[in-house]
Amino acid sequence: MSKNIEKLNDKIKQAHLGGGEKRIAKQHAKKKLTARERVNYLLDEGSFEEIGILVTHRTTDFGMDEQKYYGDGVITGYGTVNGRLVYVFAQDFTVFGGALSETHAEKICKVMDLAVKVGAPMIGLNDSGGARIQEGVKSLGGYADIFHRNVKSSGVIPQISAIMGPCAGGAVYSPAMTDFTLMVQDTSYMFVTGPNVVKTVTNEEVTSEELGGASTHATKSGVTHRTAVNDIACLEDVKQLISYMPQNNQQKTEKLPYKLGDEIREQLDSIVPESSTKPYDMHEVINGIIDKDSFYEIHKDYADNIIVGFARLGGRSIGIVANQPMSLAGVLDVDSSKKAARFTRFCDAFNIPLLVLVDVPGFLPGTDQEWNGIILNGAKLLYALSEATVPKVTVITRKAYGGAYDVMNSKHIGADLNFAWPTAEIAVMGAKGASEIIFRKEIQAAKDSAAKLAEKEEEYAELFANPFEAAKRGFIDEVIMPKDTRRKLLKGFSMLEHKEVLRPKRKHGNIPL
Ligand code: COA
Repeated sequence: MSKNIEKLNDKIKQAHLGGGEKRIAKQHAKKKLTARERVNYLLDEGSFEEIGILVTHRTTDFGMDEQKYYGDGVITGYGTVNGRLVYVFAQDFTVFGGALSETHAEKICKVMDLAVKVGAPMIGLNDSGGARIQEGVKSLGGYADIFHRNVKSSGVIPQISAIMGPCAGGAVYSPAMTDFTLMVQDTSYMFVTGPNVVKTVTNEEVTSEELGGASTHATKSGVTHRTAVNDIACLEDVKQLISYMPQNNQQKTEKLPYKLGDEIREQLDSIVPESSTKPYDMHEVINGIIDKDSFYEIHKDYADNIIVGFARLGGRSIGIVANQPMSLAGVLDVDSSKKAARFTRFCDAFNIPLLVLVDVPGFLPGTDQEWNGIILNGAKLLYALSEATVPKVTVITRKAYGGAYDVMNSKHIGADLNFAWPTAEIAVMGAKGASEIIFRKEIQAAKDSAAKLAEKEEEYAELFANPFEAAKRGFIDEVIMPKDTRRKLLKGFSMLEHKEVLRPKRKHGNIPL
């Protein structure tokens, strides 16, 4: 064997050991897989091709020239997930705590550039102590090089971040600019400044978990879109997520083989309760419409008065935005508007048709909402649905009141097909509120004002709490039987498949941020 072959074999062996057996054991003791194990689990067996395995850092300060590890704390390359090309980087916590050096960043940038040039998803597996402290500003520059590429890739290729360990300081801004962030329960956390700095600056005592653990970001901040119980579940989540999206913004998602024959779904006829104030679970409507078990929910535990997620309809991938009457009566508020707007924009950027299911009593009133900018945030959803050019179909199951009627993919803002169930109530507001305003004098003058209010309420409801007025004007294309919804949607989306919308040239719109 030539000396160089021997040398190469030796270097590869060393690279595969990362920061060494002791640190690998420490990683395993924390119930975490190593970076290499993660890449191997994520990608189809034998498909991974590594790029830059022999890279080492260039720092000499602080005795760093004595500590060099092949790969420099990040594994980069490409492979396939269920046969589809993806690019990947996985930070190796066993090498300088996965901290980002100049060369570590260069390796990530190299695969990010390839992903955009070729047009395939970029997946980042993050597990890092942040900027490599021994390198100072070189490391900060490396982060910015990555951020800049995140922005340039945005809307061109899907970008997914799995947070599988620490992700702190500037490091958080790369995942934040990708399309989806997934976290692992108990072993991952994200924050701009850690608990020690928080204590110094604000005197608050908080643990890493409380400050930026998976459950915090899944419920309070909305930073994470999905939470997994462990590394394996997280990687499975990534694989599934990818299956709903195309390779890039020039392509459409692949239509999976699907045998029809279940177009009529009788169960849909009995979901909406008789009483219009009684809640019901919109998930039942979603599951009643889509291909069996195909719903992949995003932001499940955040702003649950709106539901967003991917599903399949006759094998095609669609994005669903749906009010949830089970939570806050399905009202639109700051968080639910932001959640739905962001999801809508992802679907639109990647040619995924949108289905909007409506049961909305309006916007949430109150100082909290007004002071937190419900005007601007509600406008985000209005803007996002309005600018989307993918096929857009709406089904109003019950309430569609006030401005929220306009916002929730109404005909007026460009929906292609608008259906309503016979249970729909499309009006400026609920019958009670409306009667109290327009019949106030009559009600006050009545001997029995409660009875008068009830009478007027019924009169108003009779006239407006239905879908027929809107259908008369063509704002609703068809009032359909609930059980027929799946059939109508299958035909509608199929009819819209080649929809094209040309917009006048502009640099970009100015969405209210
Ligand atoms: N730069 C260089 N090396 C780093 C590092 C960084 N930012 N963060 C961690 N490391 C090294 C540690 O020196 C340690 O090296 P060793 O294996 O040779 O002992 C190794 O990574 C593991 O770190 P350790 O602190 O033992 O792991 P932990 O699980 O107990 O804690 C952190 C993890 C991330 C909480 C902790 O390492 C930390 O606070 N790091 C600094 C975070 C930071 O301030 N980053 C810079 C600003 S973005």
